[in-house]
Amino acid sequence: MGKVISVANQKGGVGKTTTSVNLSASLVYYGKKVLLVDFDAQGSATTSLGINRSTLNGNLYDALMGEMDITDVILEVPIQGRKEVLHVIPATIDLAGIDYKLLEKENHEYVFDQLVKKVKDNYDYVIIDCAPALGLTTLNALYASDSVLIPIQCQFLAIDGLTQLLNTVRVVQKNLKVNKRELTIEGVLLTMLDKRTKAGWAIVNEIKEYFQEGVFKTFITSNVAAQVAPTYGIPILTYAPKSPAAVLYKSLAKELIDNNEKRQSIR
Ligand SMILES: Nc1ncnc2c1ncn2[C@@H]1O[C@H](COP(=O)(O)OP(=O)(O)OP(=O)(O)O)[C@@H](O)[C@H]1O
Ligand SMILES: [Mg+2]
Repeated sequence: MGKVISVANQKGGVGKTTTSVNLSASLVYYGKKVLLVDFDAQGSATTSLGINRSTLNGNLYDALMGEMDITDVILEVPIQGRKEVLHVIPATIDLAGIDYKLLEKENHEYVFDQLVKKVKDNYDYVIIDCAPALGLTTLNALYASDSVLIPIQCQFLAIDGLTQLLNTVRVVQKNLKVNKRELTIEGVLLTMLDKRTKAGWAIVNEIKEYFQEGVFKTFITSNVAAQVAPTYGIPILTYAPKSPAAVLYKSLAKELIDNNEKRQSIR
């Protein structure tokens, strides 16, 4: 059964896209079958993987609107050194304003859930890069998900606004329970930590105190390779395999795989 994970935080610029892209590529590196869904009209995950948005035949919008079959909007992106490819559903600016169109649909929070159901079992993981908002698009991502991964930037006011996200998650959890489904917190991921500053470490401690065991052991440090790789349209592990960011995202993928395999064996 494919596991669907939303990478979400309504705060902008906290590392959602960097995490979605590089976690997905690292999961492929470890031999997992992965579908990455770009759920943001900015299309940053799409461009980060070198996909030219202007020449696409279809994107997430067409699938959500029922104009194209979900299988027809899936692209394949090679990951260097692996014969497996990363599957991607790209997004374009078409997605901006789709909330109003989705509202007209019946069960408008479950439109994506109905689509992803058709393909998720072809994958080990479906990773969704959410937009920095808590509107109907992000709700569609959450209602289709088994878990949510929350990146938090290790900066001043890091956990500001998190209550809104956690409240939204709670509402989705309650509604999914009615359908005997679960939405768990996959983990909180600390991102862009400046290891040289006391302030950075103080925030790490603050977040760990708040989320306790819910924080991934792996945390992502601030690293220039993370900024440069997307400008070449490739994941960090292809651009600079030995860079701290490449090593850390691989370690995150490993941690996530281990956590999930452990949970399965307990069940
Ligand atoms: N580990 C890192 N080290 C240095 N820079 C980073 C790192 N991770 C992300 N960045 C940079 O921080 C900026 C924001 O990252 P990213 O786009 O992943 O955040 P986001 O949460 O997806 O943003 P948005 O809310 O706009 O979708 C980008 O310029 C990215 O290159
Ligand atoms: Mg983003």
